[in-house]
Amino acid sequence: MIDDDVRNGVVAALRAHDRSYVVLCDANPHVATIARSIARRAGGALAVIPVRLGEGRKRLKSVEGVLESLAAAGAERSTIVVGVGGGVAADLFGFCAATYMRGVAYLHVATSLVAMADAAIGGKTGVDLRAGKNLVGVFRDPIGVFAHVRALRTLPFRCLREGLAEIVKAAIIEGGDFFTSIEILAPHPFVQWPWPEVVAAAVNVKSAIVADDREEAGMRELLNLGHTFAHAFERASDYRITHGAGVALGLRAAGLLALRLHVFSREEHLRVLALLALLQMPLRTGLNPEAVLRAMGSDKKRRGGHLRFVLPRAIGDVEYGVDAPRSAVLSVLRRMQQVPASPG
Ligand SMILES: NC(=O)c1ccc[n+]([C@@H]2O[C@H](COP(=O)([O-])OP(=O)(O)OC[C@H]3O[C@@H](n4cnc5c(N)ncnc54)[C@H](O)[C@@H]3O)[C@@H](O)[C@H]2O)c1
Ligand SMILES: [Zn+2]
Repeated sequence: MIDDDVRNGVVAALRAHDRSYVVLCDANPHVATIARSIARRAGGALAVIPVRLGEGRKRLKSVEGVLESLAAAGAERSTIVVGVGGGVAADLFGFCAATYMRGVAYLHVATSLVAMADAAIGGKTGVDLRAGKNLVGVFRDPIGVFAHVRALRTLPFRCLREGLAEIVKAAIIEGGDFFTSIEILAPHPFVQWPWPEVVAAAVNVKSAIVADDREEAGMRELLNLGHTFAHAFERASDYRITHGAGVALGLRAAGLLALRLHVFSREEHLRVLALLALLQMPLRTGLNPEAVLRAMGSDKKRRGGHLRFVLPRAIGDVEYGVDAPRSAVLSVLRRMQQVPASPG
């Protein structure tokens, strides 16, 4: 369910299941307030448990803490776990629910744009290891995902932008009206955006792709548009470049590489660039190309020694599994050091 206010929808879902439930939430005051008001309306929660989150806390240590508090609250095999928060909450709480007593039902109330448009969709849950992000986890679908769009009003801009990059990615994959509508909205202040529609469009793109490819055998690769570059930019910058910024940069880089391989038109590449610029996304990395290429070599998505990319053939026509020569990638990475002077 995607709505300005989903609290009554969550209450109705809990009543329909008629089982005990526990609420886990990001301890962020804005998020905790939403969680408490859901519990108040639904009544009878075993507990409302605020958990201090943040990217650095998506770890097994936090999993243990959450699992112990579920047990202390008296959660049973039939208990529903309701998670409230952003993408970190979705990944961490979803993983806890998937492993508590070998798996209990999970329902997520998304309060960040990343969670609404991306993290809470597709059934991937998990936590990070020192060796890398999201290296521990399971695929498990929640029994419901609720996008509490009103919560975006309190979301800091830097967090909103993280989600916007994924929305632009989805709009390039989908093309058509979705892409055009984002182009039209881009010059307007975010408070004026019809967020329920925008989130719904992004969710449709992701869920349609995921439904076709549960275990990432192929199609799901499409969702990695811009991501081979993004992960390398993040790693090579020592994570000074956030994931969302990396994706925005990765979308420019994928466009440049597609241009080099003569599969994408300059005109459409410029449309994407103009959109990214309007949305105040970064366009240059300032990173050493060789360092980025090395970081790319350690990407877990690399297969059989080749560098493989997801590239646009057109807005609305994206292709995965494209092999690219190292030299073409390097020249794109050189170009990415700078703002686009001439087109591209
Ligand atoms: N499982 C997947 O398929 C998938 C997909 C994309 C991203 N992710 C994961 O999502 C995470 C990033 O998600 P995120 O950007 O939502 O990060 P996040 O959950 O840390 O939220 C960002 C910040 O916003 C705060 N916040 C959340 N909702 C708020 C609200 N309504 N008002 C004010 N502040 C609010 C949070 O406390 C946090 O400080 C990453 O760990 C990433 O790996 C997972
Ligand atoms: Zn992403």
